[in-house]
Amino acid sequence: MKKILVTGALGQIGSELTMGLREQYGNANVIASSRRTKEGHEELMESGIFEIVDVADGEKLSEVVKKHRIDTIVHLAAILSAVGEERPNQAWNVNMNGLYNVLEIAREEDCAVFTPSSIAVFGDSTPPDNTPQDTIQRPNTMYGVTKVAGELLCDYYYHRFGVDTRGVRFPGLISYKTLPGGGTTDYAVHIYYDALKHKRYTSFIGKGTKMDMMYMPDALDAIVQLLDADPSRLIHRNAFNVTAMSFDPEEIAASIRKKIPEFELDYDVDPVRQAIANSWPNSMDDTAAREEWDWNPKYDLDAMTEDMLAKLGEKLGL
Ligand code: NAD
Ligand code: SER
Repeated sequence: MKKILVTGALGQIGSELTMGLREQYGNANVIASSRRTKEGHEELMESGIFEIVDVADGEKLSEVVKKHRIDTIVHLAAILSAVGEERPNQAWNVNMNGLYNVLEIAREEDCAVFTPSSIAVFGDSTPPDNTPQDTIQRPNTMYGVTKVAGELLCDYYYHRFGVDTRGVRFPGLISYKTLPGGGTTDYAVHIYYDALKHKRYTSFIGKGTKMDMMYMPDALDAIVQLLDADPSRLIHRNAFNVTAMSFDPEEIAASIRKKIPEFELDYDVDPVRQAIANSWPNSMDDTAAREEWDWNPKYDLDAMTEDMLAKLGEKLGL
């Protein structure tokens, strides 16, 4: 039985993953942590142990890992792409020093580590279509720089110290439970809220800008599947391309119109987030994940839209 610590547990992924892991491993075996408590997450904070941990504070992290005899760290605390461009110092501190602290305590206490990388590891010089697993990684955002360095650091701890590190390059994640934390792909979540509330949406990402995306249930499956994967099959370990779909704003709008025919889309493009989106792949090749740990997402765009609108409508009482 695993004893898991989740960092950044109140974020978009953590708020759903923590509850899923508690169902699978038992409430007492999944310790949630974040740098502060957050309104609206009472069920998560009260259904098991919750610790206040700033991942940049290595001593506190170490104390919590030892106190709860943790053997697996799911490290989700991070600053995402758009916020990272507003606050590059903070992005470097949280994403790099936080990961370094996690890896150090994992080395000392013999813990396995899962931490997500991102499509942000790619840049303008990366082949944008069917982006290969192993290719050019020259990102031009602070977030992307920290994610490339993070992949390398995880590789280093695996090869040099034998720490069981694993990770995926997530695309934009779409979910209805917790809002995204300030990324470039967030438009693909906001569009569903506005479709239900106002029957229209103004996109900060421009027409024709394709990016890889995934519905949260598939992302949660990816984490659990890779955590449980047979290590002898893993060649890439810390940086698997994973994707479920690729679309631009017009295509997601067309999918929404199948359920809300009067839905309207217009644009007020944000140059910062548009430049970031332009530097990311149009679509990734995730063959390595499929071959090495049987990655196989369930939701395409229309299946996701149907489920999102139904669940979000219920949540918003619409
Ligand atoms: P999020 O922003 O929703 O959640 C991150 C959480 O970390 C937040 O609750 C925040 O309060 C917390 N946090 C920030 N600084 C902290 C610190 N110093 N100490 C402790 N906690 C801190 O992010 P998410 O979407 O849940 O992302 C989780 C991981 O997945 C990140 O590594 C992110 O880069 C990666 N990822 C996410 C997406 C996506 O679309 N959501 C895509 C690719 C990769
Ligand atoms: N969804 C994330 C972002 O836009 C991708 O890592 O920052």
